[in-house]
Amino acid sequence: MYRLVFTQVLRRFDAEAVHHLTVRALALLSALPLVKRLLHKALAPHDPALRVSAFGVHFPGPLGLAAGFDKDAACAEGAAALGFGHVEVGTITAHGQPGNPRPRLFRLVGERAVVNRMGFNNAGAAAAARRLRRVRGVPVVVGVNIGKTKVVPESGATADYVASARQLAPLADYLVVNVSSPNTPGLRDLQAVSLLRPLLTAVKEVADGTPRRTPLLVKIAPDLADEDVDAVADLALELGLDGVIATNTTIRHGGETGGLSGRPLKARSLEVLRRLRARVGDRITLVSVGGVEDVDDVWERLLAGATLVQGYTGWVYGGPLWAATIHRQLSRRVRRHGFTSITQVIGRTAPESRTAPEARTAPEVRTAPAARTTGAP
Ligand SMILES: Cc1cc2nc3c(=O)[nH]c(=O)nc-3n(C[C@H](O)[C@H](O)[C@H](O)COP(=O)(O)O)c2cc1C
Repeated sequence: MYRLVFTQVLRRFDAEAVHHLTVRALALLSALPLVKRLLHKALAPHDPALRVSAFGVHFPGPLGLAAGFDKDAACAEGAAALGFGHVEVGTITAHGQPGNPRPRLFRLVGERAVVNRMGFNNAGAAAAARRLRRVRGVPVVVGVNIGKTKVVPESGATADYVASARQLAPLADYLVVNVSSPNTPGLRDLQAVSLLRPLLTAVKEVADGTPRRTPLLVKIAPDLADEDVDAVADLALELGLDGVIATNTTIRHGGETGGLSGRPLKARSLEVLRRLRARVGDRITLVSVGGVEDVDDVWERLLAGATLVQGYTGWVYGGPLWAATIHRQLSRRVRRHGFTSITQVIGRTAPESRTAPEARTAPEVRTAPAARTTGAP
């Protein structure tokens, strides 16, 4: 059905126009308490066997919505009501900015891919903070992804991230330092350990200082050389980060300028995950994103050591019920394999894995901030 609507209607319209319409529809849904709760009841993962805990936060299922869809924290509840186990909002920058000139979003339908050069269009940290304070009605785990304001030079990058972190860390279930989007000049240079160390140290100080100690993750590019993936992994361990998100979009393609996502990213994203897992084992949480299209992909990422999996482009092509369907299929698969919990799948095929998966469940598990759980069904 969705395929028919997509091929006959949606793909004829400008990709960004469809995107804004979808965000608006989900924002409207987020504002309708009854519909939202009914949908949440029908579509959100409720199977206890799908629950995962990571860095002290409970997730109802492992599959979440990747950053870049809900750039302004406008529709997280709507996305959760459609079945995502968490929603990563952003990238949010300290100052609002318009992003790059349009067109800046392109579908490559035959390749099940998207190229974007949006350039962090968003209303800024203060506006996002106002919206996040309003999130309530259905339970939703909200990650907040922050990036550098375009006009701020590299020398001011740390202060810019810190300004965002101060406003957003107290409102986030987890915070992500994004140093991997290809559409802000110089941003990816911040992945060099010499620049990344002071940046992450400063943001971590802010995240550690919130009443609940906000977990901190870093999101990396698939285009890093393997040794640089290792170096970031080592730095994450050294600094006591909570996790690594891999990967952002790739610039290794021959099409429109911008970052490529979707099916062509799948192999490299999985490769980076495996490399990270080999390096860090289960000492920090790995979040895998890039080219996830179906339940097989999610399963594969879990086996390879990801605790959480995210998707964006797969949802564009898979339709509104994409996440709900995958979670339902995961429920069945967990049982078919004789497991009682999806956590038993995590890292099962990772060669270095020695710890029993059950032993990895965090002993101290917090609940999501009260503002987001009031009135939960
Ligand atoms: C249109 C679009 C915008 C994106 N914007 C962001 C962003 O603002 N911040 C970010 O960290 N990642 C952003 N991403 C990257 C995704 O979060 C994800 O890492 C990447 O698309 C790979 O996953 P996928 O193949 O499932 O789409 C964006 C992706 C797309 C397609």
